Amino acid sequence: MIAVDPDLLHRLVAEARLAPSVHNIQPTRVSLSDGVILLQDDPARRLPAADPNGHDVRLSHGAFLEGLALALGRAGLAIADLVLAPSGAAGPIARITVAEGAPDPLASHVPNRASWRGGFSTADAAVGAALARLAADQPDLTLVSEQQAIGRIAALADRAGLFFLRDAGHRRELLQWMRLSKAHPDHDRDGLNAEAMALGRIEAFGAGLVLGPLFPLLDRLGLAGPVTAEAGEAGSAAAMALFHRAEGEDPLVTGRAFYRAWLAMAAQGLAGCPVSVLVDWPETHAALCAAHPLPAGRRLVNVFRIGVPAGPRRISHARLPVEALIRPAS
Ligand SMILES: Cc1cc2nc3c(=O)[nH]c(=O)nc-3n(C[C@H](O)[C@H](O)[C@H](O)COP(=O)(O)O)c2cc1C
Repeated sequence: MIAVDPDLLHRLVAEARLAPSVHNIQPTRVSLSDGVILLQDDPARRLPAADPNGHDVRLSHGAFLEGLALALGRAGLAIADLVLAPSGAAGPIARITVAEGAPDPLASHVPNRASWRGGFSTADAAVGAALARLAADQPDLTLVSEQQAIGRIAALADRAGLFFLRDAGHRRELLQWMRLSKAHPDHDRDGLNAEAMALGRIEAFGAGLVLGPLFPLLDRLGLAGPVTAEAGEAGSAAAMALFHRAEGEDPLVTGRAFYRAWLAMAAQGLAGCPVSVLVDWPETHAALCAAHPLPAGRRLVNVFRIGVPAGPRRISHARLPVEALIRPAS
């Protein structure tokens, strides 16, 4: 065993925090106990409307854990022993004992992976080969690249999105995690800022109104669907990537694979983002599984829209400072 000291922990967390988390809520906290790393849940970071059973929060913890494993590899270290607590148990989520190890090639893609919510280039000749390599490398992904099927999934996503947006609690929670102005105190720290959502200043202002006071009126006028639709962006995707894992798997384990699958996309020069509403709404979940049957024993966890970004892409990660993620040693 190698005892982790506070300086090393700081370096590791600086990289691990780049892992994706649902709505960028960053629910994972870290501490040291006799050189062992403990992961803890911050119960203040929850999404009761979008994630009522905590599945996506636990999956986000799993992504952080994978981020930590990749950071350890870059430092010539590895997880030697990992104890995961069952969901809902008191105390740390995970205890990580460290030993010597070797870098993982996926780690070099950590700084380049970020959610891309804009449109995709439809004229990139290399994208077919990139998708073929991704499919060969990732048994957890089923790629749907036929254009009509992509269009159908994009339309399903808009229906599912509207279903959830009609719930006032859902809209309130989403707005609470949106940082639509640069003046928002948490703009660079957490949540979804306008740049990450590929919104210009005026669009960001409009999004605040549409999701806020105007929504009921727009919906009565039949305009809420058209105004909130993302089928333009999603429909231009080179593929919809159905991410699936073994039924009954702990979402903590699923989250590790989720992050690895996303990094594998980045490794092929592909960008995109999950479209959780597709799996969260039973109606679209069932429609997707009927149209694209998964291998036996697999559960559809999420769907990514992916491709080569159409416009210029500036990668930035709004994240909490490392100090806010590390708790005093226990
Ligand atoms: C479980 C999970 C579900 C997510 N669902 C969505 C989604 O439905 N739509 C979306 O645009 N991004 C989604 N994301 C992406 C997060 O919003 C994103 O990872 C976070 O804002 C951090 O930004 P980054 O990915 O650019 O680092 C999801 C991420 C996770 C971990």
